[in-house]
Amino acid sequence: MTSTRAIFVNAPGGLDRIEQGTVDTPAPAAGQITVRLLASSLNFHDYAVVAGRAKLSVDRRIPMADGAGEVTAVGDGVSEFAIGDRVVSTFYPGWIDGPPRISGFATTPGDGIDGYARDAVTAPVSYFTHAPKGYSHAEAATLTTAGVTSWRALYTDGAMKPGATVLVQGTGGVSIFALQLAKAAGATVIATSSSDAKMERLTALGADHVINYRSNAQWGQTAAEISGGGVDHVIDVGGANTLDQSMLAARPGGHIAVIGILGGLSGNVMVANILRKQLRLTGLLVGSRRDQLDLVRALNSTGVKPVLDRSFALDAMGDAFRHQESNQHFGKIVLEY
Ligand SMILES: NC(=O)c1ccc[n+]([C@@H]2O[C@H](COP(=O)([O-])OP(=O)(O)OC[C@H]3O[C@@H](n4cnc5c(N)ncnc54)[C@H](OP(=O)(O)O)[C@@H]3O)[C@@H](O)[C@H]2O)c1
Repeated sequence: MTSTRAIFVNAPGGLDRIEQGTVDTPAPAAGQITVRLLASSLNFHDYAVVAGRAKLSVDRRIPMADGAGEVTAVGDGVSEFAIGDRVVSTFYPGWIDGPPRISGFATTPGDGIDGYARDAVTAPVSYFTHAPKGYSHAEAATLTTAGVTSWRALYTDGAMKPGATVLVQGTGGVSIFALQLAKAAGATVIATSSSDAKMERLTALGADHVINYRSNAQWGQTAAEISGGGVDHVIDVGGANTLDQSMLAARPGGHIAVIGILGGLSGNVMVANILRKQLRLTGLLVGSRRDQLDLVRALNSTGVKPVLDRSFALDAMGDAFRHQESNQHFGKIVLEY
């Protein structure tokens, strides 16, 4: 048993309720590995937990769902990992494969159970997968939540085909990953942002068309026109204030991955458009370990790397979340330990 640094957040959460302490890391039992954690990345969900929006009910929760690092010990019977392997955490360690049977975050590290804002952890092998080849720990740490979500939206649920047209919204981690994964597969991508400067960066990343959703309130209609009848897939991260435009953007029979709630938890939606256009809306929460294994394989073969915004030290987690709160970021904000 060794004692290592950990960051805790106390109930009900709040950026002023973060404190540093220590946590015990036991030697791995059969079927377990010990990982020296070296990086994490920030997601809106982590922000909700740490800032108190998710109404954390326990004191001293170790936050952060994303964790990447190096295996330092393996228990009996472990054949998937060896000492020195670079690994990245899974969002639902108990959801190995197949369709979802999980609701909410009770089994998610950094929310219902302790996460990866710590220097080391011992856990069963299902809590990790290998990281893609050539990835830094910070790059690998972006896969657990944002990477797997965009992968599942496009491929597992969306069954995207080459030649498809995809609409992505905003310049957060999920949307930029979706842009990159869609371009790597030969799709046409229409991207939105509230910032003209960020739109230039989206174009540089390969977006075929960009729309400012702040100056063009009818951005969904515009996307439908650009695509000549509607896009095949929409990555919807706004929820209440984007779904109506997302439905206008989609082609008849198109797919909308209902991913985010940046624009609100509930609101009025033109239900008739779902019927009239025979749309397929899929709500999703990240994905299974199988989704992550498939994503890592795709990244190994395409060479796609995540866009990193800024890196903060683990001890400066509060500053990292304040940076996320400011909406200045483009891509992933990471913590390096
Ligand atoms: N369902 C899931 O499995 C899952 C997984 C990951 C994330 N999410 C959700 O997806 C959303 C995005 O997450 P993220 O981690 O990518 O967030 P993020 O990195 O914090 O991205 C936020 C970006 O989205 C854009 N944005 C903000 N408000 C918007 C709005 N009302 N409409 C459209 N775009 C808006 C902004 O881009 P510009 O500055 O360019 O305008 C902003 O920079 C969050 O709601 C999060 O909870 C869901």
